Amino acid sequence: MSRRPQPELELPLRRIHTFKDSERFARQLARALGEPVSRIAEHRFPDGETLLRVHPPVARDAIVVRSLHDPNSKLVETLLAGDALRRAGAQRVTLVAPYLPYMRQDMVFSPGEPVSQHVIAKCLGQAFDDIVTIEPHLHRIQRLDEVFPCHAVGVSSAPALAHWIQRTGSRPLVVGPDAESEPWVRAIAAAAHLPWIVGHKERLGDHAVRIRFPTLPSCTRAVIVDDIASSGVTLAIAAQGLLKQGVAMIDAVVVHAIFATGALTHINAAGIRRIVSGDTIPHPTNAIRLAPLAAAALTTKKGI
Ligand code: R5P
Repeated sequence: MSRRPQPELELPLRRIHTFKDSERFARQLARALGEPVSRIAEHRFPDGETLLRVHPPVARDAIVVRSLHDPNSKLVETLLAGDALRRAGAQRVTLVAPYLPYMRQDMVFSPGEPVSQHVIAKCLGQAFDDIVTIEPHLHRIQRLDEVFPCHAVGVSSAPALAHWIQRTGSRPLVVGPDAESEPWVRAIAAAAHLPWIVGHKERLGDHAVRIRFPTLPSCTRAVIVDDIASSGVTLAIAAQGLLKQGVAMIDAVVVHAIFATGALTHINAAGIRRIVSGDTIPHPTNAIRLAPLAAAALTTKKGI
């Protein structure tokens, strides 16, 4: 029996697929791009494995939005989503991961450790054609595509943070807690036309750091900026150092609101008046929308 050739199905051009925990960011991104968004269905088996289902229509150019904080199970599910979309007909699959984990372990610090950054970059880079993230924690490399085998860009949050700081008025001093933050702190301060300094930080343990600041220029208010707040100890110790030098008001802005248990109590007890975060990780402190920056990077394919 001869089969008649099937007409090729017309796929929509671009569509966003997201998980329940990243839906808010995905909707902001969809609004900025003018694209539709749909939720990936997740089923958790009794043994802890996950079955995903992507809903049609799947576009030629499919975008998965998933923030990868609390990463271990999310990484596996995100890889499965990439596979599901390709099997359903997507020709190009992009991952937008507002928070990209495991970037800090970028070398063997003590014998016997893995280079987690390379492992995660390899897995995600093989599963996706493009990766866009916001403010990845890069220390010994400058650009994501130095370790990702696919096109990968990190978007700078500096313009959005500068805008937020500027709106709060009173010309604060912008403070970075460590030397590695200098280019980013400088970019925020330049965009907001504000003075800046960075400290010198030594990490002594998961919950212990030492920070030394240079003599501060005269100021009554400082805004500490950091890419991540995890245990909260960096912000707390930085605030104590600034208070000692006579700064009366201290606010803090972080990009990724990881906030481990007890972090906020620690931060508030250190005298930080107000703490806000970007919306890469859903948290009550979210005050700065970063999806428009990710949308711009998807359009231009350029990042930091
Ligand atoms: C480290 O270099 C990062 O920029 C952050 O300062 C750090 O991850 C914050 O962690 P924690 O809140 O645990 O001090």
